Amino acid sequence: MENLSVKIISQLSDNYCYAIYEKEHSSSIVIDPAEAENIIYYLKEKKLNLEYIFITHHHSDHTSGVLDLVKEYPEVKIYSPSDLATLSTNKISHDDKIKTSINEFEIISAPGHTLDHIILCDHKNNFLFVGDVLFRLGCGRIFEGTYEQMQTSLQKILNLSDDLTVYCGHEYTKNNLKFLEQIFDKNMILEQVKKEIFKDISSNGKSIPFNLGEEKKYNPFLNQECEMGSEFKQKNKYSNLDFFKFLREKKDHF
Ligand SMILES: [Fe+2]
Repeated sequence: MENLSVKIISQLSDNYCYAIYEKEHSSSIVIDPAEAENIIYYLKEKKLNLEYIFITHHHSDHTSGVLDLVKEYPEVKIYSPSDLATLSTNKISHDDKIKTSINEFEIISAPGHTLDHIILCDHKNNFLFVGDVLFRLGCGRIFEGTYEQMQTSLQKILNLSDDLTVYCGHEYTKNNLKFLEQIFDKNMILEQVKKEIFKDISSNGKSIPFNLGEEKKYNPFLNQECEMGSEFKQKNKYSNLDFFKFLREKKDHF
């Protein structure tokens, strides 16, 4: 379907949940709800019916709103990579193609942050929902998987189309920027990126969403061979995986 809109709904202290809908259609999709109240308020205001909930991974800050949404919308279909307590869910896994009434998602498994983590790609509308795998200028912490798993998951994102618009699970961009400024001291690329980020934040209060093609150019967690990353990597004789481990470990203690 054409003309899909994505509404970014702030949740908890720095989480984002997303509502997808089409102007001429009453159905909607919600991704990673943590708090039902402001989601329901928005859907009612727009006269939208909640038909689908998608979950990227089992953490409670991405799922704790589901129960109250089900009370309000008992017919809603829930798609999740793992079971949610007391709720019947449609399990989704790698390579599934899920057709909704307004779009189609390809499910891509992306373990590392959690083992069940999936990301959702709508190729036709160029939307990519990455949960806690990729952040602007950063990536998620590794809680359940290995460094290798997380790097492979990020590599999958790196191989996706430059045209995708990325929607991630948290607003962590300013902190990620500070971290990179510490690692890549006085870097011209970062200076430019900083300007763009602050422009986004001053115009709509958020640094989300962002373009994947641009992110590939300067996020060293996503692309260890980006210009800024390769210089650092060569100087320290790191492999891509060594470099990724170095960055992730440093960031864990930042
Ligand atoms: Fe998480």
